[in-house]
Amino acid sequence: MPTGNNRENSIRIAIEERGKAIISTQKSREDYRQYFTPPEIAALAASLFSSTSASLPLIDLGAGTGILGVYTALSVPTSSVTAVESDISLVEGCRRSLATLGLEYSVVCNDALDVSFDRDFGRAVLNPPYQKAVTDLTDDDGVTVRTPNLYAAFIVKAISLLSSKGELVAIVPRSWMSGAYYAPFRHYILSRCSLDSIIVLDSRTDAFSEFGVLQEICIVKLTKDGCQHLVSVAENHRIGDKPAFQPVELKQLLLGDDLVIATANVGGKQRATLAEAGFRASTGKIVMHRNGASATASKGRGVQVPLIQVENLSNGGVLHPAENPKKPQWLDAHGARNGLIPAGYYVLVKRFSPKEEKKRLRGFLLAAKEPVAVENHINILHAGTARSVVPLKRAQAERLLQWVNSSETESYFNSFASTTQVNAGDLNRLPLERGI
Ligand SMILES: C[S@@+](CC[C@H](N)C(=O)[O-])C[C@H]1O[C@@H](n2cnc3c(N)ncnc32)[C@H](O)[C@@H]1O
Repeated sequence: MPTGNNRENSIRIAIEERGKAIISTQKSREDYRQYFTPPEIAALAASLFSSTSASLPLIDLGAGTGILGVYTALSVPTSSVTAVESDISLVEGCRRSLATLGLEYSVVCNDALDVSFDRDFGRAVLNPPYQKAVTDLTDDDGVTVRTPNLYAAFIVKAISLLSSKGELVAIVPRSWMSGAYYAPFRHYILSRCSLDSIIVLDSRTDAFSEFGVLQEICIVKLTKDGCQHLVSVAENHRIGDKPAFQPVELKQLLLGDDLVIATANVGGKQRATLAEAGFRASTGKIVMHRNGASATASKGRGVQVPLIQVENLSNGGVLHPAENPKKPQWLDAHGARNGLIPAGYYVLVKRFSPKEEKKRLRGFLLAAKEPVAVENHINILHAGTARSVVPLKRAQAERLLQWVNSSETESYFNSFASTTQVNAGDLNRLPLERGI
């Protein structure tokens, strides 16, 4: 392992080559997903490998300029580095970076999903391209797994290239942790590997913001055929800090089928979700371009019901009609059709929040004295089912309001919601506090 000046030289060249590539790939970045790992994150990823006395061969899929290979080889004993990169314009820079290590290395210019080698690797490190692409990959055991995104396909491929007990560290979006879309991939990972560590980067870290990538990123460490021990979890990690790992049993991270990384369940007990506890989140049924013809700004003649829009939600409650409304406030009862909800108490939650707003869950208490119509940009928490909306008791509504606005619920939500949208389905999956 290079030390002293050699080490500094390796880091200097790796950073230089990364900098050159950021400039040279401006045009191809979108096509190839060339978001190069910042040095601090490369060092953090490399620190997750177990230290061994034996030198092991390392593979980096989608290697870019090789920064991950460099930092890994500087962190753990490495016998060789094999980098696979499909963009020929990056190959020279990658070679220059890896050459500084004084180790056997090769840079293969090929599609990472097509490569094969006549040997196994002891470690894999990757920051793969993130791009929607459904791929069916068959691993070295003949198991076929469907991956919805290139990054997941790269992980399956890397696992295939590892020897048994080989370790993989990947920098990936956190979208794989939840939802039906990634379920086959998640099952595959958890059946083929032990999940050893996860670092979830603080969303404010904006790890790849220099490239305009605002996805929430995590760093995962897996061991192929590993025995599942406790998972080391570091949540809301800020670059530059030492990761504050907490050991957690895997089952504590599983909420149904999803992996949920949040302090709320670290060391906590299994709790019922909103839906399991007999409540329900449903989306408001009034869509303006469908029902809007019979909507008016001020109360007109005939049977009209209040129409609750996002602009009516303020100060934790609902103000209807809004002062100086920009949107219609009343709806012909006939126009509302089955979009009406009965009088009573509810908690309303905005479905969309501005990108720059860090808090995504915003609840408002609705005490409706008559049936009202709720517009489609709002979710309704109620005591009914997916088919029928039933009002809450007042005390329940007040407690649900506190719960939805709490920082604990927000942190849970952020741990699996991968868009800025707040879907009713995501709300139904949130664990509830006891006693609501
Ligand atoms: C997110 S960048 C990361 C680069 C590098 N690993 C790093 O950490 O800086 C992904 C890299 O994968 C490369 N890439 C994209 N599709 C690829 C493919 N099918 N096979 C191999 N490399 C690919 C891109 O050119 C890019 O360099």
